[in-house]
Amino acid sequence: MNTSSGVEGISNILVIGAGTMGRQIAMSAALAGYSTTLQDISLDGLTAARTEHKSWADSRVAKGKLGQDDAGAALDALAYSTDLNTAASGADFVIEAATERLDIKTQIFEQLGVLTPAHAILATNSSTLGSSKVAEATGRPAQVCNMHFFNPALVMKCVEVVRHGATSDATVQAAMGLARRLGKEPVLINREIPGFIANRLMGAMQREALFLADEGIASIEDIDTTARTALGHPMGPFALMDMVGLDVIDFIAQATYEETGNAVDAPNERITALVAAGKIGRKSGTGFYGYTR
Ligand code: 3HC
Repeated sequence: MNTSSGVEGISNILVIGAGTMGRQIAMSAALAGYSTTLQDISLDGLTAARTEHKSWADSRVAKGKLGQDDAGAALDALAYSTDLNTAASGADFVIEAATERLDIKTQIFEQLGVLTPAHAILATNSSTLGSSKVAEATGRPAQVCNMHFFNPALVMKCVEVVRHGATSDATVQAAMGLARRLGKEPVLINREIPGFIANRLMGAMQREALFLADEGIASIEDIDTTARTALGHPMGPFALMDMVGLDVIDFIAQATYEETGNAVDAPNERITALVAAGKIGRKSGTGFYGYTR
């Protein structure tokens, strides 16, 4: 493809990073019929992703929500690789979901600029780093943007497409078009701002929830219940923070605070202490709530 042919020309998708987000983004792409490679430097991470893909597909078939043939086709469309060189060489569209560190992302995008075909669009799933930070490293900044998915990515409809100053209209259209083909409802963010839309809204809710709990106004259970029963949220702010991971919440707060210097964005002491104690939410078995794993 070339960027002027937009979403129509995309056949091969490369997802970098087999963590929580990358796995489900890759599965979403495969379900939409794209030949999809999930790349990670960790073979263990890829093996776990493959197992999770298979069991997710099996459970959808068992629930009657996915046909056996469609499940088989999606699993067949997925490839797993530790070798970025080969994985990148045929990619029309890349979604990077690696560790949230600028040095790591810059190195990846520098490599992508060399290894992918010239027409390939290079997107980052980062929630804290605007793509302007890695765009120049690719040598094709007009073809770089953020494409921010939400956890769990197989379920959540939103994708924030964020353009930086030099992102082309063709790149934006291709990213929005691809998100729609993955069954999502993309939104366009015209200028980079810490937290984009969703994490700014979520942060405001979390700050208020933490204030109410810290002041002893109400229990975390009752605050969560109120968010569900009064506001119609699928889960309350404390349960949501546990699901996202308190390490991720703390990291987002640190990154936002570093960028804005605004006291309201500063990390919450209670969350920082829970993270230091290894209590990072569902994935560790304890956060604001306890979980049986
Ligand atoms: N992976 C894949 N699918 C999942 C899942 C997961 N981790 N968790 C739930 N699902 C699926 C279930 O299989 C089920 O599918 P089905 O209805 O088609 O059978 C469906 O989601 C509903 O699941 P449940 O019935 O088990 O439970 P709920 O109805 O409570 O839904 C939820 C679970 C989808 C997680 C819902 O509670 C929810 O939407 N919560 C809010 C999530 C949210 O706000 N996410 C954004 C986080 S912020 C973020 O990601 C940004 C980042 O930068 C931090």
